[in-house]
Amino acid sequence: MAEPDGDRRAETLAAVSFGLATVAALALVVVFWRGGQPQAEGLLLGVVTGGLGVGIVLWARLATPQDDVTEERHLAGSTEEQVSALASDFGAGGAAFGRRRLLVGLLASAGAAFGAALVFPIRSLGPRPGKGFKRTAYGDGRVRLVTADGRPVLVDDLPLDGVVTVWPEGHTGDGDAPTLLIRTRPDQTLRPRPGRRDWTIEGVVAYSKLCTHVGCPVGLYQAAAGLLLCPCHQSTFDVLDGARPVFGPAARSLPQLPLGRNAQGELIALGDFSGPVGPGFWDRDR
Ligand code: FES
Repeated sequence: MAEPDGDRRAETLAAVSFGLATVAALALVVVFWRGGQPQAEGLLLGVVTGGLGVGIVLWARLATPQDDVTEERHLAGSTEEQVSALASDFGAGGAAFGRRRLLVGLLASAGAAFGAALVFPIRSLGPRPGKGFKRTAYGDGRVRLVTADGRPVLVDDLPLDGVVTVWPEGHTGDGDAPTLLIRTRPDQTLRPRPGRRDWTIEGVVAYSKLCTHVGCPVGLYQAAAGLLLCPCHQSTFDVLDGARPVFGPAARSLPQLPLGRNAQGELIALGDFSGPVGPGFWDRDR
């Protein structure tokens, strides 16, 4: 029995849809490879998923009988005519099997090309950070602290209650290095963490300027209370107590910088921050 024209047409359309999805997925690979282009990626993703979807639906409709069939009860056994009709139906069906194999092949190629295209967005995660999150330019040791215009800082440059933002000399553009120098009042008692007793100079203390919540610059200093505020989500850090968070969403103290002085009396960093600066990340170990 010959296949209805509708079935053939649906099979052809399904094959075209899978072919289109394959071509679009390969084009998507090329677009990703060349650095990506959001509009093209969106369009091609639409064609890939649309092509696969339309093809599968058409194919599913083919595989599902759409008509009501009533089979009359009859005696077991076949007449000569029935046997030869079955043989001819079977022969006609062989062609359909061949076409189904083609459809399976096309669907598999579209799926494989789409899978390959989906591997490329992994590149969007960027380069491996390595030790970059855990070390700043202060790690070189005995680095002079300078203002944005490269000027070294003396203790007396800072008035009582004064706050100034500094960087390691030669690295004023480093995003992970902005540091707050704060000169506390003589009547304010600093409570250093264990091992940090000599990290301050004449009441001057240094902390990373990057909020440990999501990295906004902390900059509002309430001198009377010795509190630093982050303007983004109001995290508040106690400057006198190792910049411990006392309010808001930040859960980690601002990392502290060990301060020293060189022969000229300029402030220097004796080493790197007490911990990684900014917000937490997956393998931060302290
Ligand atoms: S970034 Fe500072 S509180 Fe959110």
